[in-house]
Amino acid sequence: MADKQIDEISGVETTGHEWDGIRELSNPMPRWWVWSFYATIVWSLGYMVLYPAWPLVNEATKGVLNYSSRGELAGEMEGARVAQGAILEKISKVSLEEILADPQLARFATAGGASAFRVNCVQCHGTGAAGGQGYPNLNDDEWLWGGDINAI
Ligand code: HEC
Repeated sequence: MADKQIDEISGVETTGHEWDGIRELSNPMPRWWVWSFYATIVWSLGYMVLYPAWPLVNEATKGVLNYSSRGELAGEMEGARVAQGAILEKISKVSLEEILADPQLARFATAGGASAFRVNCVQCHGTGAAGGQGYPNLNDDEWLWGGDINAI
């Protein structure tokens, strides 16, 4: 630069910008900031190699780890199916009374039933199964077609 402007008070070169008599000094950015910035660039290069990164026409680049969140979910679902397999098999073979008599089977069936109820039944019977106009209350002891476990 031909005409360097030096701030008289600090002795630092200025950028030449000035607002209302306030001059902008041209100090270098802090070392730690610059190195952190370089580190993010290095990190991103590693990330782009390992993980899906660049969008292509139909899908993104796969990355050498071949990771996908869909794949992770499929793996977890498979694990859950395997873990539940034995007990589901057992439940399918025994009577309702036998399920109720076995604390482990009863607990599993009740939890599964509660989740099936929330998907299939709450629309009419309500979240607490208290029913409503035209839809019977399932908590009381009044039953239209019989109240034992098999009738229900
Ligand atoms: C589309 C609305 C609807 C849905 C969804 C529904 N129900 Fe019902 N449910 C009814 C109605 C209406 C009756 C009364 C039927 C009658 O009068 O015979 C009833 C009756 C019952 C009864 C007998 C109640 C009694 O007092 O005798 C039971 C038990 C029951 N439902 C359980 C379920 C379960 C479990 C589900 C989910 C798998 C379910 N219902 C889903 C509308 C529904």
